[in-house]
Amino acid sequence: MTKGLLITFEGPDGSGKSTQIGLLKEYLTSKGYNILCTREPGGTEISEKIREIILDNKNSNMADMCEALLYAASRAQLVNEVIKPALEKGTMVICDRFVESSIIYQGIGRGLGVERIRGINEAALDGLKADVTFMLTIPYDEGLRRKSKQRTLDRLENGGDDFHKRVFEGYRELAESRDTIKVVDANRDIELIHKDIAHTIEELIANHK
Ligand code: ADP
Ligand code: TYD
Repeated sequence: MTKGLLITFEGPDGSGKSTQIGLLKEYLTSKGYNILCTREPGGTEISEKIREIILDNKNSNMADMCEALLYAASRAQLVNEVIKPALEKGTMVICDRFVESSIIYQGIGRGLGVERIRGINEAALDGLKADVTFMLTIPYDEGLRRKSKQRTLDRLENGGDDFHKRVFEGYRELAESRDTIKVVDANRDIELIHKDIAHTIEELIANHK
């Protein structure tokens, strides 16, 4: 049996990741593929508990390194309990955020350093790499504007303007860093974005067989 594909979505808060993941899942399911959707931080019982701690607005005194390690801990559990077993069974896994979020938010946004965050996450990932990463780009304040219309902002989203500007710049820098990252202009009509993503996945599936 062919190993499943790992598809990840990255982009600032409110860039449309969940929306696009929903559409992609529908599209691939209608074509007969077995799809598992998950998210970070979260996706397992333990990881969802870690998520609550990280995003809780009451934890305003959390040290940046504690935050980085909690994201990595949540990831280690998800990789071990859900993602690797699913890929082994040939299931296609779609993950809402993955290691690039830590590189950008903690490495660049919090200023902990890209190499340090890569190091922590090497342990968490245990050799796992995404087959393709869709990086949704959007003007830096547009995502938060969309998000604040949707719900109350969490601790990370309330991180302040400078933090979000660094995150935005981080996404731009990282987009060039490996050839499996596909940059997608997310400041367009939802259906147009979906068509681009579906096209890239069709190509990937054709080459994977
Ligand atoms: P994310 O998962 O990246 O935080 P969501 O998919 O939850 O983003 O989208 C955030 C909000 O923006 C939602 O209310 C959603 O309906 C809306 N939205 C998503 N994509 C677009 C788009 N291309 N144009 C306008 N609004 C969008
Ligand atoms: P998410 O649930 O994707 O929020 P949203 O639906 O608003 O995009 O992610 C929660 C927050 O966690 C988000 O602000 C980004 C942040 N985050 C990190 O800082 N580092 C990480 O490694 C991950 C996975 C997320």
